[in-house]
Amino acid sequence: MLKNLISFKKIPLSNSLLENKNENINYYDLNISFDDDTKLVSVVDNVNPEELFPDDYVYDSSQSTTMVNHFKDCAEYLQKRFIPYNTLEIGSNSGIFIRHFNPDTTIAVEPCSNFADITNDMEYKTYDSFWSTHLAKYIRLTHGTMDLIFSANTISHIQGLDECLTNVKKCLNEDGVFVVECPSFLELLRENAFDQFYHEHQSYFSMISFRNLLEKNGLKLFDIELVPVHGGTYRFFACRQDSSIDVNHNNINKWETEEKEFGVDSYNKLKDRMSIMKKNMIDIKETLQKIKSENKNIIGYGASAKFIQVSNMCDLNNNLISYVMDTTPDKQNKYTPKSRIPIEKYDKNKLKNVDYCFLGAWNFLDEIVEKEKEFISNGGKFITHIPKVEIIDK
Ligand code: SAM
Ligand code: TMP
Repeated sequence: MLKNLISFKKIPLSNSLLENKNENINYYDLNISFDDDTKLVSVVDNVNPEELFPDDYVYDSSQSTTMVNHFKDCAEYLQKRFIPYNTLEIGSNSGIFIRHFNPDTTIAVEPCSNFADITNDMEYKTYDSFWSTHLAKYIRLTHGTMDLIFSANTISHIQGLDECLTNVKKCLNEDGVFVVECPSFLELLRENAFDQFYHEHQSYFSMISFRNLLEKNGLKLFDIELVPVHGGTYRFFACRQDSSIDVNHNNINKWETEEKEFGVDSYNKLKDRMSIMKKNMIDIKETLQKIKSENKNIIGYGASAKFIQVSNMCDLNNNLISYVMDTTPDKQNKYTPKSRIPIEKYDKNKLKNVDYCFLGAWNFLDEIVEKEKEFISNGGKFITHIPKVEIIDK
């Protein structure tokens, strides 16, 4: 049975940036629910995937040095640990992960044609489609079953998880491995990261819920790691239920205990957590209003999907945040949906006239603070809202 955890009214899609300030946009309610059976927390309101992931989709993970390094390390680690002959990636984006694999034995699935074109040009056969029963059948027939199926920050974006996982199983070798990276729901709760709730993020996996879903669909979890990207990401290792791969019970039991102590499988405890997040939303707006009342200026740093969510969930606009700077060319000279904050090209010089930067890309805090040492030494301050509102001035 589904039980409501938290709801937001009239939320635009977080990557639907506006070309013009006054452009009309579609709004959707965002209702997050808890499933008593699988313990999965997910979005109830389904938005058409074609609208979520259009052919000019703007999220490009290669824009961040942290993510470039992360996927290089991850690819090397998986090659060393599993020595795969053939590999399939689901949700390959601009090729940040597969670029470390041999194009002759690696294929990819990426529905956004702007990105599928990039990896096809790099000689990786990329299917410009959503992962589906039809495509899985075609891939199995054409390329055979896989030693490694990898998917980062994508399985959590897919509606219809039972079909998705069953298709993974069908494309996996008997001892093949399915490695999934997705933000950890346990860490989201620890960080009070309410801005991770958005329509693209269909599901919020705890180890407990993901293990339940795998088991429902003929797969089993054999190991898990926590990696320090996107505010805390789980790396799940799964295989077919009939595989001879050993299960790391000690590690899995340790995470299960930790998750249960935190209450990720308890509706009542999760409701308490949601109340803390709602209080943080109020604190954010009050802090920005106070800074503005002292005649200081504030800009945003990083027009991430999270920034767009926080701006709308906390009812912020360009009276409070003059503009937001971002390094992604496709985001520049556009506006955030609903909050209608201008997105400007990143320019270090602009920081000379800025008092406060509100960190939209709080998950890259260390990288950004290191990059902007001069801004801070000249008296500039960062504002983060994760896990609670805080001013960073050193
Ligand atoms: N894997 C990259 C990373 O971790 O940085 C990109 C993650 S991005 C948030 C999600 C990617 O998954 C997008 O490039 C999107 O187009 C793709 N995607 C979304 N739904 C998908 C589906 N049903 N099948 C395959 N890919 C999908
Ligand atoms: P993400 O958290 O969804 O990866 O988005 C982070 C956004 O922040 C992305 O649009 C790129 C942007 N960004 C900058 O503008 N400057 C930076 O130094 C970093 C790390 C990210």
